Amino acid sequence: MPRFRPFRVFLFLLLYGWVSLLWAQSDAAPEPLTAQEKDQATAARAINLLSFVAVDYPEAVVDSATRDARLYRQLQENVQVAAALLQQLPDKPGRAQLANSLQELDAIIEQMREPELVRRRANAAADRIAALYQVPRSPAEMLPPPEEAEGLYRERCSRCHGIAGRAPQPERRLDDPNRMGNFSLYDFYNALEPTREDAHGQAIDGDLSSRQRWALAVLVAGFSAPQVAPSAKLAEQFPALVGPPGAAIVRPAEIPEEAGNALRWWRAHPQQTRHLQHPLARAAGLLYLAQNAYRGGDNASAYHQLMLAMREGFAPARAELMARNPALVTQLDQQWQELRQSILDQAPANEVIEKFQRLQANVVRGREQLQPTSGAGIYGWAALLFLAALGVGLLLWYGLRRPRRG
Ligand code: HEC
Repeated sequence: MPRFRPFRVFLFLLLYGWVSLLWAQSDAAPEPLTAQEKDQATAARAINLLSFVAVDYPEAVVDSATRDARLYRQLQENVQVAAALLQQLPDKPGRAQLANSLQELDAIIEQMREPELVRRRANAAADRIAALYQVPRSPAEMLPPPEEAEGLYRERCSRCHGIAGRAPQPERRLDDPNRMGNFSLYDFYNALEPTREDAHGQAIDGDLSSRQRWALAVLVAGFSAPQVAPSAKLAEQFPALVGPPGAAIVRPAEIPEEAGNALRWWRAHPQQTRHLQHPLARAAGLLYLAQNAYRGGDNASAYHQLMLAMREGFAPARAELMARNPALVTQLDQQWQELRQSILDQAPANEVIEKFQRLQANVVRGREQLQPTSGAGIYGWAALLFLAALGVGLLLWYGLRRPRRG
């Protein structure tokens, strides 16, 4: 029979206590923000203000007259504050142009122009701020399931927003499909930024982790989502919307209605949509996240996501692609190894980013070649949007690097 050893038990408890103390402390005292993180937080605040302009303007102005004068003034102020925040951010190629577009937005609100135009301009400005200051708008890992946030929502949110978003006050409802369709999942996440006091005080979101915020965003998205899952055929037509980053960044109201309705369901059911993603689409999404992490200076996550993209995305599709285009597979194998090596070797950043972009382009190409021809046109549309976004990112990145190298 084993002897009871009180000293060992004591040692174990001591060690356990010490480790949990360290753990608790690492939670309690977050590391100070780097300059880039501060800029990203400032940019995120401007994006949040602009997303409210896009969403709330139709309630403030109807037929070129104010319906709600207070809200109207609030939205004007939002644009002005966003413009002031932009001036606090470091100057970069593209900032002056952005400042101009905010001035134009201010002017069309002043003229009480039609909601559709204001929405488009406000969202476009928000997207450009995100690209210019590299605000990560997609989760670092896969989207968490909504169930993870149910307890939190009941404790902290339902007293204002109601059960399942059915608040008595219309401005607090989170279940109106028209209004909610103007928000991306990222916009929900961004409304819960712990360091800001604008929509929610410290007691509500001050201590939320990034994962908890994404889970809440997914849960909130479900309040206005259709009940019935979209057909699998739609997932083939709009693969860029099935998982992140597309599912986190795109606003349902901005895409064709059929795709928008599908997106409303997909973004609210990340678990059930994972199997719909073609492995190469998942690889492209993960590569995008890896690249974002790398740009943010987080090499460890970049490496982790790169390997995940290879294991969970490329490997399962390799045989299928080999039958279609063996040369492309050889090229992909090589590109993957090279990129992996240059991250490990800490190669110059612009070199690594270039490798990311080339690999990404080939993964998208591979995905296109495996696509059944029926959906190819629409898929091309989605891939084009995706590549355009990547291209803008690349240009901004080079714009950013060049002065430092010279
Ligand atoms: C004290 C009341 C209150 C509580 C508690 C609260 N909210 Fe809010 N929330 C608001 C108000 C008011 C707005 C609108 C802010 C605005 O328009 O500027 C808002 C806005 C939002 C939005 C943006 C969408 C929209 O309709 O404007 C989301 C998403 C949201 N809240 C989610 C949550 C979640 C999730 C929680 C719990 C963690 C929560 N809220 C807790 C009052 C509250």
